[in-house]
Parts: sequence; structure tokens; C-alpha cells
Amino acid sequence: MSTIKRDGFGSRFGVLVAVAGSAVGLGNLWRFPYMVGTNGGAAFIFLYLFFVILLCMPIMFSEFIIGRRTQSNAFGAIKKIAPKSGWLSIGVISVVASICIMSFYSVVGGWTLEYIFKSFSPSFLTSDSSALSSQFSGFSQSSFMPVVMHLLFLAISALIVVAGVKNGIEKYSKILMPVLFFLVLLLAIRSLTLDGAGEGVKFLFHPDFSKITGETMLAALGQAFFSLSLGMGCIITYGSYVNKKENLFKISFMTVAADTGFAILAGLAVVPAVFAFGIAPGQGPSLVFITLPQIFAQLPFGSVFAVGFFFILLIAAVTSAISLLEVVVAYFTEELKMTRKVAVVVTFMIIGVLGTFSSLSQGSLSDVTIFGKNFFDLFDYTSSNILLPVGGLLVVLFVGWRMKRADVLDELTSGGTVALRKSLFTGIMLVIKFLAPIAISIVLINSLI
Ligand code: PFF
Repeated sequence: MSTIKRDGFGSRFGVLVAVAGSAVGLGNLWRFPYMVGTNGGAAFIFLYLFFVILLCMPIMFSEFIIGRRTQSNAFGAIKKIAPKSGWLSIGVISVVASICIMSFYSVVGGWTLEYIFKSFSPSFLTSDSSALSSQFSGFSQSSFMPVVMHLLFLAISALIVVAGVKNGIEKYSKILMPVLFFLVLLLAIRSLTLDGAGEGVKFLFHPDFSKITGETMLAALGQAFFSLSLGMGCIITYGSYVNKKENLFKISFMTVAADTGFAILAGLAVVPAVFAFGIAPGQGPSLVFITLPQIFAQLPFGSVFAVGFFFILLIAAVTSAISLLEVVVAYFTEELKMTRKVAVVVTFMIIGVLGTFSSLSQGSLSDVTIFGKNFFDLFDYTSSNILLPVGGLLVVLFVGWRMKRADVLDELTSGGTVALRKSLFTGIMLVIKFLAPIAISIVLINSLI
């Protein structure tokens, strides 16, 4: 994104690759399966899909509308429409949330890097769950390599943000994302055909609604926001690069469809195998790193697939990480007037230190807790379950109540070039003004009770 000048993306495909690159990442392939596992399976998926369609689509339009209207970074965008007002908290949330997310995202990015190297060794792929489990905890709890890998992942992402690789990362993403999709599809097919996979399929598709609690609802909402990169100015920033003629509906719809497709497919790849191999679905963050090597062990040329898979997962993680970093860097350069290089170095140092704490909290610092959570869980919980929903709430309120209705219509119809029925526009405005804010507030309040 760093090289995209204010004149914007060249083509609709370019926009889609960039937005989908931000959305599809560790959130789909690492976080979604284990959240499904810890939050009771099908009922969680049901809530997730409900929130995606009802709330995330309107929030995505809203962020695109703010960004394209103002042609600015998240903070600057709000400042242009509502200077010196409380609305600027949207900009503050976006910077804080980006830093919080990167402080654990980069650690998981580091684990992915390590797993590329591990996949080269033939003994790595085994069907022995407990061996894989102790291998993962042995690595993630140590104090040296995971920190090095986290810093390496962060450095790769930071370098891309400084140097810009419009013709690199974007070009390769166009090829690699479809390849990733086919690899996950292959894993899903293998997973679904394992002995004992049926229990997993039941877990994924037979909802037990008695499992829904206030916390589950908040977890599903937080996951939906996290996976779609919403509630923290990322789509506002991308929206500022979108051509005036582009249809915001189409872009939003295609991004949501691609991201959700990836998440469900990842669930199908991981969960049936979890049941077939007798792993506990509520494992948490280690789930994918224990399950996937076992599925690869069941495939011919498993090592080749494993190396390829973790490598492409790394690329997917990097394309999301650069969008997170860009939110902070754009704020530092445009608002605090730092040069781009200084901004990236400052961002690297902040996240480097915080990420080191969250990496160490898996092992040597595991006893240090704040509100009962270690650093890793604290960054994760605060961003996904508090900052993103609150950010999303403020965004819809801003578009619904603060922006001029005529401006919103102008953006939704791309300056009058896209037909939009009056009744549909009224419906969208009702969702943005009332339904979405009320629904998000209910979920937030409900989880407090
Ligand atoms: N959506 C990314 C993922 O699913 O991995 C993570 C993310 C990127 C969250 C950018 C928020 C964001 F602004």
C-alpha cells in the first residue's frame, strides 16, 4: 500500500487484491478455526455469519465512504469532516488498535516463519498429536527463537512498507492467493475424508444454541471485525486510494465473500481433522500448528505441501501486516510530520518491544498477568473484543449522523454513475443509523453483564 500514491489504484482488480490481501490472513487460517473450537462450533459460526452480513457489510461501506470522500488517512479523514471534535477518537482507536494487533500478530507471523523451516525436516510431519503438541509448546515457550522470528517477520513487513512493492507484493498476491485457496481446499478434502471426521462436521454445522453466551457473541463479533480488517481505519485508508468511479458495493461484497469463503474453508480443513486425530478443539492458538502437520503427514509429498502452505500463509500474513503498519505509519507521517523512514523505524521499535513481551508471555513471562490475561491474550482480547467493535460503532454513527446524507449518497452511487434505488438507499441508511449501532451496543453491553 505504501507505494500507492494519492491518485489511487490503477484497476478494480488492484483494489480488490489490496483489500482482500488485508482481509485474508492469519485471522482466517489461524484464528478462525481455534475460535470456532473454543466457542462451541456451529453456534459460533452461525453468529459469525449473521454479524458479517448484518453488520460488517454496512461498516465496510461506511469506512470506504469516509476514506474515498476525504482522501486521507484514518485520523486526517475524520479531522477533515469534524475537526476538533470527539469523533477524532476514531483516529486514536485506529492507531492504538493497529499497534495492539501487530503486537501479537507479528508473533504468530514468526511462528509461521519457523514452521516453514520445520517443514523441511522429514521427521516433522507425524500423526502423533502429543509429539506435535510438545514440539509447538517447546518452541513457542522458549525465550529466544520465537522473539527472533517475531522481529524477522516485523522487519520483513516494515521493509515492504518503507520500500513499497506495488509491483512486487501485489503482483505475487494475485497468483499466490488463488494458490493458497486451492491448498486449503485440498486440506479440507483430506481432512473431511479422514476416519472420524464426521464428528467434526457435526461440530461445525449442527448448532447447539444453548452454548451462546454474551462472551460468545462478543467473540464472534470481534472475529468478524478482525477478519475483515474493520473498525480500525484500515478500510478508511484503503478507501482513500479508490477511484471515484469504482462501485463500493461490488468491492465490499467481493471482499466479504472472499474472506468468509477462506474462513469457512479453513474451518473445514482444521476441525474435522481435530476430531479425527483426537485433539481437544478448545486448544487455543496452538490448534492449527498441531493439526495441519498431521494432515500433511497423510498426503503424498506432504513435506512439499507443508513448506508451500506455510510459505503462502506467511505471504498472506505479511499482506495483512503491511496494512496494519500502514495505518500507524500514515498517521505518523501525515499528522506528526515524520518522514516515512523515521515513522517506520518508530513503529518497528514500539511493536518490536510490545511483541517481545507477548512472545515471552507464552513462556518465561506467563505468570505476569493483567486483568487475568497474559500479554499475548491481553493484546488480542483488547483489540478484537473492545477496540474494533467500539471503532466500528463510532464509524457507523459518524456516517449515519455526522456526515451529510447527500455526500453519503454521492459516494454510494459513485457520483451518480451507479444506479441505486431510493428504497435501497433508505434501507442502508436505516441500518447505518440505527440497526448497526444498536446491535453492536447490545453485544458490547451484554458481554459486560
Ligand atoms: N484481517 C487480517 C486477518 O484476518 O488476518 C488481520 C487484520 C488486518 C486486522 C488489518 C485488522 C486490520 F486492520
